[in-house]
Amino acid sequence: MYTKAPCWQTSNLPDADMIVWSVFMPYDAYERPIQYLRISVTDRCNLRCVYCMPEEGIPLIPHQDILRYEEIVRIVRVAVGMGLDRIRLTGGEPLVRKGVVDLVGELARIPNLKDLSMTTNGILLGRYAERLAQAGLRRVNVSLDTLQEDRFRRITRRGRLEDVLEGRRAALAAGMRPVKINTVVVRGLNDDEVVDIARLTLEPDWHVRFIEVMPLGAAGGEESHWSGNGVVSAAEVRTHIETALGPLEPVRGETGSGPARYYRLPGAAGTVGFISPVTEHFCHSCNRLRLTADGRLLPCLLSNFAIDLRSVLRGGGDDEQLRETFLQAIIAKPRGHHLADGVASVYLPMSQIGG
Ligand code: 5AD
Ligand code: SF4
Repeated sequence: MYTKAPCWQTSNLPDADMIVWSVFMPYDAYERPIQYLRISVTDRCNLRCVYCMPEEGIPLIPHQDILRYEEIVRIVRVAVGMGLDRIRLTGGEPLVRKGVVDLVGELARIPNLKDLSMTTNGILLGRYAERLAQAGLRRVNVSLDTLQEDRFRRITRRGRLEDVLEGRRAALAAGMRPVKINTVVVRGLNDDEVVDIARLTLEPDWHVRFIEVMPLGAAGGEESHWSGNGVVSAAEVRTHIETALGPLEPVRGETGSGPARYYRLPGAAGTVGFISPVTEHFCHSCNRLRLTADGRLLPCLLSNFAIDLRSVLRGGGDDEQLRETFLQAIIAKPRGHHLADGVASVYLPMSQIGG
């Protein structure tokens, strides 16, 4: 059973002087450099993946609470100035928000921004890839849990597999590299497909990452039976792949900005990555903050509290106050989470956090 983690009180937070500044970036209280900001631009989504949302969806953030694009651009300017210079746009589904191509264009022009990327479910990528690339998006991650059309429908409850595959092709045709596939593995749902999905990396431009499903309990409905029992460890996925396709060789130097460990099949051009938040958590190397669509900074994916950046912004705060708010979130980063022990925070649904 998953229980709610004990609540952090802001009065328990470490002192601001526990933050160490290097020339380039802030370090948190556990000496982790914080360089990466994931921004959820909307909590709306055109799919209803069973591990993420119930069929009927979840209560939506009111429109007036969602950060406007000029607010996001201002926040990113401040963040980049502090050394948080790698930005990923997520959702919900980022491409359902009107004008997101213009946001990409504005962000891409910010001086000293080192990396700008997006995580999308791919449904609308065929329509937007070319414009996104022109606006300055150089790479994209696409969620894809199955290669079977009927199963795609069962997992996402709507949407067509062919649209995602077309979206991926369009991203490549627009010059985006790499296009990485994120596959959340759920026992009994798609774990029998990991070999077929890994095999894709033998073809040009396929990179796939297998993600352990985090039982966050937001999905509800009849499919919620996977909670807890649905986790297939990265080690198990790896064994299946190696038994069928041969040894996975570690890829040196390929770490990206995130927690994946990368390997290659014999003779493959593409990589097979593993992200194991449940069985081998990577909190010790966590380099990120998350911003929700309504302007809350989450110190950790599984935080059960957030820091309200929007109030500072809309209350007339200057850049210095925004920086201070970022620092509060950085010092509030906990050492780690306790998913493996069955403790999960349920503060926000995944569709508001953006993965
Ligand atoms: N566990 C693991 N990954 C999840 N995602 C959404 N919900 C979960 C979950 N419960 C993934 C999506 C996408 C990324 C943004 O987060 O599949 O790849
Ligand atoms: Fe939408 Fe992503 Fe949640 Fe699926 S996992 S419902 S694509 S937000």
